[in-house]
Amino acid sequence: MSQRGSVSGDATFWGPDFAALAEQDPQIADVVVGELDRLRGGLQLIASENFTSPAVLAALGSTLSNKYAEGYPGRRYYGGCQQVDRAEEIGIARAEELFAVDGPDGRVAVHANLQPHSGASANLAAYAALVQPGDPVLAMSLPHGGHLTHGAKVSFSGRWFTPVAYTVRRDTELIDFDEVRDLALQHRPKMIIAGATAYPRLIDFARFREIADEVGAWLMVDAAHFIGLVAGHAIPSPVPYADVVTFTTHKVLRGPRGGMIICRPELAARIDKAVFPFSQGGPLMHAVAAKAVALGECLRPEFRDYAAAVVANSKALADGLAAEGMRPVSGGTDTHLALLDLQELDVTGAAAESRCDAARITLNKNAIPYDPAPPMTASGIRVGAAAVTTQGMSESDMKDVAALISRAVRDADGSEAGDLAAAVSALVARHPAYPRPAGG
Ligand SMILES: Cc1ncc(COP(=O)(O)O)c(C=O)c1O
Repeated sequence: MSQRGSVSGDATFWGPDFAALAEQDPQIADVVVGELDRLRGGLQLIASENFTSPAVLAALGSTLSNKYAEGYPGRRYYGGCQQVDRAEEIGIARAEELFAVDGPDGRVAVHANLQPHSGASANLAAYAALVQPGDPVLAMSLPHGGHLTHGAKVSFSGRWFTPVAYTVRRDTELIDFDEVRDLALQHRPKMIIAGATAYPRLIDFARFREIADEVGAWLMVDAAHFIGLVAGHAIPSPVPYADVVTFTTHKVLRGPRGGMIICRPELAARIDKAVFPFSQGGPLMHAVAAKAVALGECLRPEFRDYAAAVVANSKALADGLAAEGMRPVSGGTDTHLALLDLQELDVTGAAAESRCDAARITLNKNAIPYDPAPPMTASGIRVGAAAVTTQGMSESDMKDVAALISRAVRDADGSEAGDLAAAVSALVARHPAYPRPAGG
């Protein structure tokens, strides 16, 4: 390890040393460099990904990773937690400031838990806090955009609870609230989940609240995808309506890979106990500190500009792809992501994904509502604008991106892949992700 420079006064910082990694473990160093080259050299359009800042990466790569800190600030099961306590307290305060909302009687306080290791862990904790094994839980169907943790048989949620799934309407491809209410009245779920992995539109949280109240269910909002847009005030917040809001910190929010929970203050103890000790042990304190850094970034005015630009770029990309013959599911997007139906082009989602990959465009195949194709083939693709917006692309760039995707998707024999990859390199070179230091 090597000394990296002075932070303040006599204090010196010891942190990640790439030269040491390269010398000690060239194989893994090569992976790290290869991934950086991949990120820099292509278009990153996976809707759940983003580029974290150097400050977030510095916290992630710090010696905070060494510390055991079971418990919560001021109530730990280990000594030596003075410094990590500060990181968690700062992060909690920032989260509570960011997600508190203005009610008719002033600010409505919230409680934040920064310890979930991932979005799935945050969801497991929310289930553990609010429902009992066997209870019915009403959530969005997986093939219509729900997440595995919303009741899929392969996850704890479908194995230990009794899932009931709502869908989107065939005609509008929007959440079918008549069906949500009918299913709620029929199955009397103990919890209703709003939120999805592939739903491009705003969600009517007030309507979900009404239905939850009608049947006496908890309302959990899984805001993993769009919480960054909420943090940046680009879309309405679920916080005034939900009992619990779970999310990942690495999507539009642009923090480290991880999860978080926001809840009403009355539920604080239940949520905290459901995270630790019920479903997790020691928190990842380097990740908690990195979440605090990201939340600090979200509180800055620039983050509002970023969130607005993400939505504008996403709409421009969806419009551009529609002009190229790809049908946006639900007719468009209000968020950072769009889902495109490729059936008119007679190209499967899987083929589109691999053809784009050959052109250095990274996106994913995705089922569309009522998809006739199996999930591993799928009839659609999902694209997101979070990462390209971080690297400074604008709505006019999205037109170029749409044209490149369109050519790649139609390139059945791969004959254009080389030219397309070169065009992608030229485009991203104008807006470099993780730019090389001058002279580097
Ligand atoms: C809506 C939703 N919930 C939960 C998760 C799970 O997050 P993780 O992969 O961090 O476990 C995801 C992941 O993409 C998601 O989209």
